[in-house]
Amino acid sequence: MAGFGDPAFYGDRWADVYDEHHGWLDPAAAVEFLAGLAGDGRALELAIGTGRVALPLAGRGIAVEGVDASEAMVARLRAKPGGDSLPVVIGDMAEVPVSGPFRLVYLIFNTLFGLLTQARQAECFTNVARVLGPDGMFVIECFVPDLARFDRGQRIRAREVTEDSATIEVSRHDAVLQRINTQIVTLDGQGMHLRPVALRYAWPAELDLMAQAAGLRLAERHGDWDRRPFDSLSANHISVYQRD
Ligand SMILES: C[S@@+](CC[C@H](N)C(=O)[O-])C[C@H]1O[C@@H](n2cnc3c(N)ncnc32)[C@H](O)[C@@H]1O
Repeated sequence: MAGFGDPAFYGDRWADVYDEHHGWLDPAAAVEFLAGLAGDGRALELAIGTGRVALPLAGRGIAVEGVDASEAMVARLRAKPGGDSLPVVIGDMAEVPVSGPFRLVYLIFNTLFGLLTQARQAECFTNVARVLGPDGMFVIECFVPDLARFDRGQRIRAREVTEDSATIEVSRHDAVLQRINTQIVTLDGQGMHLRPVALRYAWPAELDLMAQAAGLRLAERHGDWDRRPFDSLSANHISVYQRD
């Protein structure tokens, strides 16, 4: 598999700047939420990345393990304090290439949408169900699709302009495939830098059906990690699935 279809593609293209680009995200509320669900059980982060959430969660005494397709992202995790001691398998999150049972499996920051077909996303739900213990929970964090962001299938946005650089986000949207391809383009004194992202989005109802097909049911849905109510104005959702 090459390009967007390669599970390691996103991580390999982002690893060197991932933490710098996402430094504005505070993991505290997510860590609090996930720690409460994991309790004294095993926790698994699918697409663990550079450990943005897994490391502070492990710092709370939770037994966290991970899966990620990108050696480059995991190398960043390993270089951080505590990063060497987390068990991480390099592999495809759709396959969930680990043995359970887990009390908690989580896949956050819209990363389920990094699986680019409905079949791959459904496969992920099925394999998560395989490794969940009887009281296990699967937590996802996803955005609610907002098609008003696109004008005739495209969107261009100036993300940041400084004295020495401009960062522009350029996207194409395919409503049939539920697919968004984006390049985050930085122009600076060193030239042009491309950071690609491809997503296959799904509305919450479709995700619930995938869960149902995997033998899971929706137990909770919140508008954010602080458990604000989820409603028609929510831009994101935190959904918790349990075994049927
Ligand atoms: C947006 S980052 C999220 C990282 C981390 N979960 C966080 O919240 O900061 C996406 C991560 O998903 C990983 N990834 C993407 N597709 C994957 C796949 N099919 N299997 C495993 N990991 C994948 C990337 O390597 C990257 O580390």
